[in-house]
Amino acid sequence: MHELKYKKTDSVQLSDDRTSVVIIDQTLLPNKLEYLTLTKADEMYEAIKQLRVRGAPAIGIFAAYAMAVLSKSIPSGSGFMAELERLGEYLVSSRPTAVNLSWAVSRQLALAKTLSPEAVPEALLDEAVKIHLDDISTCMAIAEYGLSLLHEGDTVLTHCNAGALATSRYGTGLGALLLGAERGIKLKAFVDETRPLLQGARLTAYELKNAGVDVSLICDNMAAYFMSKGMINAVFVGCDRVAANGDTANKIGTLGAAVAAKHFGVPFYVCCPTSTIDINCKSGDDIVIEERDGSEVAELYYAQRMAPEGIICRSPAFDVTPSELITAIITERGILRGPYDLKTI
Ligand code: MRU
Repeated sequence: MHELKYKKTDSVQLSDDRTSVVIIDQTLLPNKLEYLTLTKADEMYEAIKQLRVRGAPAIGIFAAYAMAVLSKSIPSGSGFMAELERLGEYLVSSRPTAVNLSWAVSRQLALAKTLSPEAVPEALLDEAVKIHLDDISTCMAIAEYGLSLLHEGDTVLTHCNAGALATSRYGTGLGALLLGAERGIKLKAFVDETRPLLQGARLTAYELKNAGVDVSLICDNMAAYFMSKGMINAVFVGCDRVAANGDTANKIGTLGAAVAAKHFGVPFYVCCPTSTIDINCKSGDDIVIEERDGSEVAELYYAQRMAPEGIICRSPAFDVTPSELITAIITERGILRGPYDLKTI
């Protein structure tokens, strides 16, 4: 049986009585650190949809625990598997872009199919802990590879949040910075605020500041300016889905940072576990981009509405960075450079 001693900072945890999933409500950070205990499918769906739990690997880990917890409430008759599949589909329908969500649900369903209904809950709980443990070691490996690409004194730009809250412990895109801080290597960070949901301002700035990293928060539209001044040595981001040709979906605004980085000759690194690579997507054109409610652009986080009533607001949550703009993809298996053919990874 796999065992994991949770830390207060783990964004996803299993409750002590193993009947619920406990998450840090990321929508309340950095002002409040509050935990939510989730037992029912509709609460879990809402938590993913509203970004209370967010970040591709964290959503996958959450879904793995959720499937285990939900399987406990299904009567162990002949309809057991059909009901578990229905609940899995329901969770997957909450957000379309991060592949880790469907990856974790499919992995749990495949395991459940090999077992009697009575054996499923404990087996899925054990598998969820294994997925979580694997993500911790994966993030550690990505952090090591990332750090090997940096030099003391470098300044790294990052976009959105790819730290512990979005993954496990070291994070992916933030791994090099967090590991560097732990080892006393002086690195600086510039953090895009990441409109409209402010993951950079609320979460990344919070995580890096807590880790003692020298961090400056900037608006998304300032990144090219700092690159033009030669003040950024590298860009590190996480991602939500990588197509077989290396095209990568990440938080809206990543594409702009990649275009500017190419223009100014700044290396642009994408960090992800191999579970984020979707070999069934041939290219970025096959990646479904979530479109969120326009009110998040006009109203959310403003003291009052900041756009005319009735204006159309568009809110694609992700964009796709073409592989030719990506200097390297950093996974737990190593540093991959283009041209990418990830089908065999
Ligand atoms: O909409 P979010 O906040 O879930 O988007 C998350 C991102 O785009 C992250 O950069 C990505 O998931 C990588 S997390 C390691």
